[in-house]
Amino acid sequence: MRYRILQAGRLLPTLEARLAAEFDTHLLAAEADPQAWLTAHGAEFVGFVTSAGVGIGAATMDRMPKLRVVSSFGVGLDKLDLAAAKARGIAVGYTPDVLNDCVADLGVALMLDVARRVSEADRYVRRGAWTMPGVAGFPLARKVSGAKLGIVGLGRIGQTIARRAGGFEMDIRYHSRRPVEGVAWQHEPSLIELARWCDFLVVITAGGARTRHLIDAAVLDALGPRGFIVNVSRGSVIDEQALVQALREQRIAGAGLDVFENEPQVPLELLSMDNVVLLPHIASGTQETRQAMADRVFDNLQGFLRDGRMVSPAPLP
Ligand code: NAP
Ligand code: 8YV
Repeated sequence: MRYRILQAGRLLPTLEARLAAEFDTHLLAAEADPQAWLTAHGAEFVGFVTSAGVGIGAATMDRMPKLRVVSSFGVGLDKLDLAAAKARGIAVGYTPDVLNDCVADLGVALMLDVARRVSEADRYVRRGAWTMPGVAGFPLARKVSGAKLGIVGLGRIGQTIARRAGGFEMDIRYHSRRPVEGVAWQHEPSLIELARWCDFLVVITAGGARTRHLIDAAVLDALGPRGFIVNVSRGSVIDEQALVQALREQRIAGAGLDVFENEPQVPLELLSMDNVVLLPHIASGTQETRQAMADRVFDNLQGFLRDGRMVSPAPLP
């Protein structure tokens, strides 16, 4: 029997092909009025494939009375209503671990870029400033190797970032609500103290209501005019207005940002700042990692529908 599976939005072509070969799939995003369509057809589906960026809310689940399983492309759980899923007995799968390397790599890339002015130097060469008579030489940057790194959130990706930073001989401390057992890095119970201590503050906590604006004006002031911030977690974790203001007033040295509060909108003021690096939420975006995530989405869905077992079930509240 081919289960009927609803696909929230477009996925990697290889994943769409695999899903269509195994299941009877339908693309919700292709409908002119998805919610009205769902009201009429939601009862046909037992599975829902979504992504960390799109998620699924209680209202959508309510329109799918036979829904048994949600399989999400991504590790972030902030847009998945896990409480509603639990209340309905709906299983939820996600894609942890397979993206640790690439997200950590990009966090380190942002740290190096903003400190060593890589993107700024690239713009300098492209606009011909290097060969322009009378233009001052490119300004000196800041050293990363051996600097102090504060990591906010020492989970799967945070620990991968810490291991990479060890290769740069950085002095590493971290903040999370609970100390992580079995790691050598020093836990700092106070986020403000971590920010005061470090040169680079890399944010890689979970998103959602509990971490909203965890990084506020006070944390940015503790980081100070020689401190850089990097965010590869969720835009919501940083108070973006406070960040723009701190950058404008040079109360922090710079920022490397892969994520924003209102994606794909980026605060206009940031676009003209040379000491910020702005990326379109691409931390997991390599062919290898996206394929591994796609495989996990399929395996979670197939595993659940075949024998009730997923490779990586999301932790329900
Ligand atoms: P994880 O293993 O669950 O780690 C999350 C960490 O956040 C834990 O160390 C947790 O420690 C900490 N944390 C949670 N709430 C906190 C709070 N209020 N204050 C301080 N620390 C807190 O998750 P992961 O796999 O490393 O992924 C982390 C996040 O990265 C994801 O949730 C996702 O949003 C984001 N992400 C972004 C991209 C991208 O493309 N930019 C890609 C992948 C993932 P405690 O519970 O002890 O506090
Ligand atoms: C995804 C992410 O690219 O895994 C996550 O939580 O943020 C990224 O890896 C994105 O969410 C896919 O929608």
